[in-house]
Amino acid sequence: MKITVYVNGTEQVRDVEPRLLLIHFIRDDLGLTGSHWGCDTSNCGACILWLDEIPVKACTLLAVMADGRRVTTVEGLIRGTVLDPVQVAFAECHGLQCGFCTPGMMMTARWLLDRNPDPTEPEVREAISGQVCRCTGYENIVRSILAAAQHEREARA
Ligand code: FES
Ligand code: FES
Repeated sequence: MKITVYVNGTEQVRDVEPRLLLIHFIRDDLGLTGSHWGCDTSNCGACILWLDEIPVKACTLLAVMADGRRVTTVEGLIRGTVLDPVQVAFAECHGLQCGFCTPGMMMTARWLLDRNPDPTEPEVREAISGQVCRCTGYENIVRSILAAAQHEREARA
């Protein structure tokens, strides 16, 4: 099937198998390997990206379901050469170890802060509750998201 998807602001037109998963379309057809493929069973959240600004697990959707819609991946968080404050905070606060969960965590974090610029720690933990990190114990991930929120509040002040 021929599909048109707007990925990180760029129109992408491809012929795809109807059974192709969105995560494989993004990674293999478009070469955007920032989104990871982990469990393939909707559990880990490594594949989280945005479909029309909503975080989704891309292993649970077919590529054809994104036809005519906007997809944002972790590569799309960067503005030119400027990292998103979430990306900066993850680096500052050591919010990762192996990095496998990190792109999905960042996409959820950015989505949360766009809607709730001053989240509490429980709100951050709830936001990432559908995602698994096997390395960090979540402490530094939560710290990173709270730090990003603080940096953004300071920048606005
Ligand atoms: S690969 Fe999609 S939730 Fe794990
Ligand atoms: S940093 Fe390794 S899974 Fe989260």
